[in-house]
Amino acid sequence: MRRVYIETYGCQMNVSDSELMFGVLGREGYVRTEDPAEADVLLVNTCAVRDHAEQRVLGRMGELKRYKRPGDVLGVVGCMAQRLGPKLLERVPQVDLVIGPDGYRGLPELIAQARAGERAADVAFKGWEHYEDVPPVRGNMVSAFVTVQRGCDYRCTFCIVPMTRGPERSRKLADVVHEVARLAANGGGTTEVTLLGQTVNSYHDGEHDFADLLRTVGAVEGIRRLRFTSPYPTDFTPRVVAAMAETPAVCEHVHLPLQSGSSRTLKRMLRRYDRDRYLAVVAALRAAVPGTSLSTDIIVGFPGETEDEFQETLSLVEQVQFDDAYTFKYSVRDGTPAVRIKDHVAEEIKTERIGRLIALVRRIAKQKNIGLIGTTHEILVEGPAKRGGLLQARTRTNKIALLDGPAEWIGTYRRVRFTGTTGSTFTAWPLEKEYPELVAAWQ
Ligand code: SAH
Ligand code: F3S
Repeated sequence: MRRVYIETYGCQMNVSDSELMFGVLGREGYVRTEDPAEADVLLVNTCAVRDHAEQRVLGRMGELKRYKRPGDVLGVVGCMAQRLGPKLLERVPQVDLVIGPDGYRGLPELIAQARAGERAADVAFKGWEHYEDVPPVRGNMVSAFVTVQRGCDYRCTFCIVPMTRGPERSRKLADVVHEVARLAANGGGTTEVTLLGQTVNSYHDGEHDFADLLRTVGAVEGIRRLRFTSPYPTDFTPRVVAAMAETPAVCEHVHLPLQSGSSRTLKRMLRRYDRDRYLAVVAALRAAVPGTSLSTDIIVGFPGETEDEFQETLSLVEQVQFDDAYTFKYSVRDGTPAVRIKDHVAEEIKTERIGRLIALVRRIAKQKNIGLIGTTHEILVEGPAKRGGLLQARTRTNKIALLDGPAEWIGTYRRVRFTGTTGSTFTAWPLEKEYPELVAAWQ
């Protein structure tokens, strides 16, 4: 039996792509292993969005080569593989193959070549590739990622993704629905699905838009929770917002990438909205989906960002009151337009700004979360928590809660009361311990 080990970095799309690679190799008889020492094929699925992510992978390659026995194959796949291509073969002599996000179909062939002593890189774009015929081997059957769109046609000036993932393309709605229906039906017990795409709400398969997709997937029997990531702010058309409001499965949480609160910075980033437009989208979402939580992505120190412009980001964060925010220092990506903008911001200033931003984000999140202590929620139990013998669960609003309960609860929905918070996550008490008859009726 041949074993494959895949280590995944970066976004959910990469997690989903790794599941596809397990599918491609599963058809060849490979089984998945979590232990690099016993693997015949070792793959690192990489991210190229920031230099930091790439440096980590290069460091990790040095460690993984220790597990490479004669005949084993070590490969780099994903966005960094696409970006560096054959250069990676030169740079890391232990690497046998390099494959970009459109080339996973060729894995078996390149693995065979590598075994025959021939190292190779495949970084050709196939603008049509959806891996429609490849059954992903999923790590999580309770909550499943389903990629509905690959690539990106936007041109945010800081971003390498259009260069690593190629042009945008959407899967056919019928194919997505078929996959979700199979997940929900076949005893896998999937009740929660997250639809993935780089600008997922710009989904269009030639006939159907994202609103159609939400309504149709939300109507699949057995699907109780529907999420999606990441949407682009201006692609929340009235049709999409209405579909969210009118589809009971759509969860009350939106990840709404901001990048900057300054209209001037947004213009240099070539984002398609200004501060006021972003705020209008927030207002529309909150009006249509009461109680929705909001998270975001923010970049500090984009070229030319002045202290005043940064202050506008702080004031927008204060105004919107995000539940959570992923904050990044701008990282120069070769080949992206922002490289040519004058006035790159000094590293110390980036560090100082991100510190202030993180402190603000944490303060707001903590304040909001303290306000939720004592409230009750429906949670989906996802699995064992990392520590303390507890279970980890999630609310529809994407809040993480830890609770004490039997392992049989994994994959089930329960009602809980929040009893405490660290500021970001919660401790929760199952209501069936308080009101067993009420909860029995609710289940
Ligand atoms: N459309 C995609 C964006 C992928 S990149 C999505 O939302 O899923 C994910 C995040 O990384 C971006 O939202 C941005 O905040 C950050 N990012 C992208 N390029 C960056 C760069 N050059 N430097 C710092 N952060 C960056
Ligand atoms: Fe990147 Fe902008 Fe597309 S952030 S992935 S170019 S929407």
